[in-house]
Amino acid sequence: MFSRRLPPHAELNALSQAVDALRAEGAQVADLTESNPTRAAIPYPAGLLASLADAEALHYEPHPFGLLSARGAVAEDQSRRGVRVDPAHVVLTASTSEAYSWLFKLLCNPGEAVLVPRPSYPLFEHLTALEGIRAHPYALEYHGRWAIDVDSIAAAPQDVRAVLVVSPNNPTGSYLNEEELQRISNLCRERRWALVADEVFADYPLEAEHPLTDIAARSEVLSFTLAGLSKAVGLPQLKLGWCIAGGPAPERDAALAALEVIADSYLSVGTPVQVAAPRLLQAGASIRAAIQERIRRNLTTLRAAVRRYPACDVLRAEGGWSAVARVPATRSEEQLALHLLRTERILAHPGYFFDFSREAYLVLSLLPPGDLFDDAVARLLRVVNS
Ligand SMILES: Cc1ncc(COP(=O)(O)O)c(C=O)c1O
Repeated sequence: MFSRRLPPHAELNALSQAVDALRAEGAQVADLTESNPTRAAIPYPAGLLASLADAEALHYEPHPFGLLSARGAVAEDQSRRGVRVDPAHVVLTASTSEAYSWLFKLLCNPGEAVLVPRPSYPLFEHLTALEGIRAHPYALEYHGRWAIDVDSIAAAPQDVRAVLVVSPNNPTGSYLNEEELQRISNLCRERRWALVADEVFADYPLEAEHPLTDIAARSEVLSFTLAGLSKAVGLPQLKLGWCIAGGPAPERDAALAALEVIADSYLSVGTPVQVAAPRLLQAGASIRAAIQERIRRNLTTLRAAVRRYPACDVLRAEGGWSAVARVPATRSEEQLALHLLRTERILAHPGYFFDFSREAYLVLSLLPPGDLFDDAVARLLRVVNS
């Protein structure tokens, strides 16, 4: 009865089942996978959402790419990282995930493929399957920093239409660097691929020296940078994302004309959030600062705690909201994650959730409140080293 686009969904994995069972019994779980800032005791300014009630939102002026005032505010907001973006190149969406789905409709025929990083964000399997296309992996490898294996991109199948980069990547934290961008752009030019840069975490550098950001605005090939309020302002529930088109003017403008047809078919972004966007983006600085302080603090204490255990190691985390810990592979990652949950009530993501090429890694969110994080990390390290 249902289409082949649907990814397998019948069964929850063993870890999710175990968490659900514990929570159903009323157990408190120290959640080191929490990536929702609204559940992490981040202070939000009082009255932050008042602008959503602006009477201007009583008028409905549909525009495929969103209100020019909101697109202008997004463009203006990019200037804090030193780039100039034309509001005409900004497309508003309900989320980054929706921006991906529009770009896949724009760039791929059914059955074709896009290149996705591995390890990375597990949602790509779903987002591509739901558009009737394939996610073909390319490799990131750790040599003191996570580097893109550009040869694995060059070995792509014929029917690839775009390369997706996540910068900084979730969960490896690695930003694309200048050399990688140049080599990937050369391949895009040669093979007529578009470059899609997911920069949702670009505002959160950790151990990066001079992170490269705003890839579409700098790119020499047809490119799209994706981001949104979800991470840039810590407000995932408001459902406002954006896609900024860049690259050579003729290709960029042709892409925008075609995207307009797609966006016009959905008109998915609500008016109140668009009217409020300039004020929300302005308020973003203090929320970002609070998140930045939290993730830096937690990374520092994690590094200090791990130093006591020579068999463990925290990989270089250039940016983003998580850290990757290499732990002794004395049992499978799944067994380890289940053991931590059952004995210590600690939830951590095993590396295989993100398709790491080998074991054993744990991915730890840096968002939880400091006292919860410190206590859970101390207990987790005792268990993984026992
Ligand atoms: C790399 C990456 N891209 C996109 C998203 C989704 O963002 P949005 O809430 O804007 O759809 C996430 C969410 O965690 C993410 O990790």
